[in-house]
Amino acid sequence: MRNRAWVGILMMSIAGGLAAQEVEPVNLPPPQTEGGMPLMQALKERRSTREFSPVGLPPQVLSDLLWAAAGVNRPASGKRTAPSARDWREIDIYVATADGTYVFDPNAHALRPVLPRDIRALTGTQDFVPRAPVNLVYVANLDRMTGPGSDQKGLYAAAATGFIAQNVYLYCASAGLATVVRGSIDREALAAAVGLGPNQTIILAQTVGYPKTAH
Ligand SMILES: Cc1cc2nc3c(=O)[nH]c(=O)nc-3n(C[C@H](O)[C@H](O)[C@H](O)COP(=O)(O)O)c2cc1C
Repeated sequence: MRNRAWVGILMMSIAGGLAAQEVEPVNLPPPQTEGGMPLMQALKERRSTREFSPVGLPPQVLSDLLWAAAGVNRPASGKRTAPSARDWREIDIYVATADGTYVFDPNAHALRPVLPRDIRALTGTQDFVPRAPVNLVYVANLDRMTGPGSDQKGLYAAAATGFIAQNVYLYCASAGLATVVRGSIDREALAAAVGLGPNQTIILAQTVGYPKTAH
């Protein structure tokens, strides 16, 4: 990443002998929720791009990206920028970077460490995936999907992921970032590397970075 100081603190904690899950979350800078490109212009610009610069995303950009994806936009209820059936909030966003793997905690607006390893190459089968600075992995936690509608978990989790992915597409259009949502994943290998449980399903992944020509 361009600014590695905040990640460095985290890595020191891990090197100090704590298991990743015991390390304190990494607080992201508060998201900048004003401004950006007008919506209609962002819709005009939305597209899939498969050529990325290896330059990392600054913490503020990562913060804004994750807030746009599924951050809390109504703090009183904890509800988010993306809808979810029955407000299950079943999709967790794993964030794979060169510095390690995290899961986004929307309530704390923080990254919780998952693995002190670069597993970007495992998040997709295409050649640009390992080199791009950020790969988001959308994982459904099926345990949160209870009550009416829970007989259609796959359908609802896929729909919820689609909303998040489109939020990311629109943020990237607005911020001049490149992105592509991806289904081409070796899900078994990735789930094993991340240590997912039997009730966690990888739905899609999404690569984000600066366009190759910009840097
Ligand atoms: C569910 C889904 C899965 C996709 N999987 C991949 C993928 O694995 N690899 C890829 O390069 N693009 C993938 N795409 C992106 C599509 O190829 C892309 O959206 C389509 O070609 C239209 O281009 P556009 O997004 O620029 O409009 C996927 C899109 C969706 C909606």
